[in-house]
Amino acid sequence: MSAVSIIATLIKLLEVRVSMSNGVKWVTEDPEKKNVFWPSEEMKKKAWVSDPNVYEEAMKDQEGYWAKVAGELHWDKKWDKVYEQNPDKPWEFKWFLGGKINAAYNCLDRHIEAGKGDKVAFVWVPEPVDEKPVEVTYAELNKEVNKLANAMKKLGIKKGDRVGIYLPMIPEMVASLLACARIGAVHNVVFSAFSGESVKDRMEDAEAKLLITANGYFRRGKPLDLKKNADVGVEGTPIENVIVVERTKEIEVNWNEGKDHWYHEIIENESGECESEFVESNDMLFMLYTSGTTGKPKGIVHDTGGYLTQAYITAKNNFNLHDDDMFWCTADVGWITGHTYGCYGPLSVGATQLVFEGAPNYPDMGRWWQVVQDHKVTVLYTAPTAIRMFIKAGDEWPKKYDMSSLRILGSVGEPIDEEAWLWYFRTIGGSRCPVIDTYWQTETGAHVINTLPGVGPFVPTVAGRGFLGINFSLYEEAGNEAEPGVPGFLAMKPPFSPGMLRGIYKNEQKFIDTYWSRFKGVYDTSDGARFTDYDLIRVTGRVDDVMKVAGHRLSTGELENAINEHELVRESAVVPRPDKIKGEVPIVFALLRDASKASDDLKTEIVKHVDKMIGPTARPAEIYFVEDVPKTRSGKIMRRILRGLIKNEPNLGNTTTLLNPECVEHLKEVVGYTGGG
Ligand code: WT7
Repeated sequence: MSAVSIIATLIKLLEVRVSMSNGVKWVTEDPEKKNVFWPSEEMKKKAWVSDPNVYEEAMKDQEGYWAKVAGELHWDKKWDKVYEQNPDKPWEFKWFLGGKINAAYNCLDRHIEAGKGDKVAFVWVPEPVDEKPVEVTYAELNKEVNKLANAMKKLGIKKGDRVGIYLPMIPEMVASLLACARIGAVHNVVFSAFSGESVKDRMEDAEAKLLITANGYFRRGKPLDLKKNADVGVEGTPIENVIVVERTKEIEVNWNEGKDHWYHEIIENESGECESEFVESNDMLFMLYTSGTTGKPKGIVHDTGGYLTQAYITAKNNFNLHDDDMFWCTADVGWITGHTYGCYGPLSVGATQLVFEGAPNYPDMGRWWQVVQDHKVTVLYTAPTAIRMFIKAGDEWPKKYDMSSLRILGSVGEPIDEEAWLWYFRTIGGSRCPVIDTYWQTETGAHVINTLPGVGPFVPTVAGRGFLGINFSLYEEAGNEAEPGVPGFLAMKPPFSPGMLRGIYKNEQKFIDTYWSRFKGVYDTSDGARFTDYDLIRVTGRVDDVMKVAGHRLSTGELENAINEHELVRESAVVPRPDKIKGEVPIVFALLRDASKASDDLKTEIVKHVDKMIGPTARPAEIYFVEDVPKTRSGKIMRRILRGLIKNEPNLGNTTTLLNPECVEHLKEVVGYTGGG
């Protein structure tokens, strides 16, 4: 061997080492276009889908595509008909009619029967650093789910009954969802940071019979008393029983004898086996409240077979989940993202995932990256608001950790700006991993627009195209389809994807008005969008009065209602202000019953009042006490003008048709408006 070839071999070896320590390259940069990326050969090899032609094939026979996917799940009885839609009422559509399915069976038994009972279903990472992570296998989870399901049956819970779940991110959260699914009960989860009042509203509306909660949980090192809120949430509702998980010994709870039951006691002597209740595919799996444009959150209804089919295939294809993956969706199960990608999606695929109890910044800004390193996370799915927070915290935090295990990065919740996308791509993904920007809603149940990791391209600020078998179009106000390149309203064409909502609980009219009235025959997302290069869709954001505050959905009307309930407030108007980290924050204009009561103390009091009525996620960033807000002649608040004032827009639009144009001048002073953009 010559010296030259020895050196060449050494260099080769060194290169291999370097590339190993830095992880595999899963993307390549477009040779011509800056910031456009494509899957690498390695990615294409590993991807479930890498042939771009599958899009056309699925579109040619959408029903056939979805039937093929559904066929990968376990059905106790196969469906008689794939899809049906009422020609006069497009919102009356059904999938897999006559099919009998159980979601828990598909998330547990199916894998155990396939010999994967010892596979880890999830690793739970508690917030306190001195508490050890817990691994739960599919067989163990199954046993836990069945014990709880049996205990629930003894409390009288039957198929179709609504069960409230108000839990932090602990293993019992996942078990509770599946225990409901096991017996055909309908779960109704309320995010643990929501207030007792929110729980109460949702339990009343849903006529829930049982609530599953915890005595507390940890947030930034402090134990919080969740039971206290749960008690507020239960009082005066039809709830007969409350199951309480003992998360910590540090909290002394108020106990309602006869109504409250400790989780560990009630499941203790139950059998680890429980028959699955196979339900008709269109029976309800769960409901989840979300903010609409009006004051009251609405109960979004999801079916079983269609929802599970789409949760399953989008988790599998979009995160390219295999047996060697460690998938981490950072969203709380209190949101749809946690339902679909923290429970039903990865579990129906049979993947291993991570469930994290904590906050991203506790004990320090490196916690998430430490979790990625320690548990060799391969797919990380999070929100732009978190990414922006980490950008601000500085690159030194992620740089401390080895994140070469990462293969795919996901983003969800709001449009991701180019800076956040590129930072995520470079600093977290080491310029090796695709960023899969997933567009969807509580209503769609699962991803509906994104780029497949094995197909690409991955382009900052662009979500991608309709998922396989899903057809989107853009419409103009007048109802016609928009020309290419022209922004429009984003709407889905039939057949509506299987994961789509089937209604608003007990409110069909609202369901029709909200989603099916602006355009004929298509589902109106209430988002604006435009087609960009490669026929990809860029979603620009809501076109209604729904805000995205740190990725959380909140309606201006809901916040106004809560504030108006304060005894000193006569009326209020809420508008979003752009925020570098949270995306948007709520700004309040409050009209007092007695203007002389305006003070900083009152501001603090109103903030506390919002905490109590909705929860800290809805906290106003600024409260202005004003004498008047711009209104139309019919008395409707003109939020457009308030938005313009807050954003300091040069052109506030026409104010002459207002009922009270003079108030605009005064408001300009109050908010320090210059019109400088
Ligand atoms: C709204 C739905 C779906 C899970 C979490 C949010 C916005 C969501 C994206 C994205 C641009 C997005 C939309 C949508 N949104 N994902 N990738 N790009 N916008 O669910 O709370 O029901 O909110 O979030 O405005 O309508 P949600």
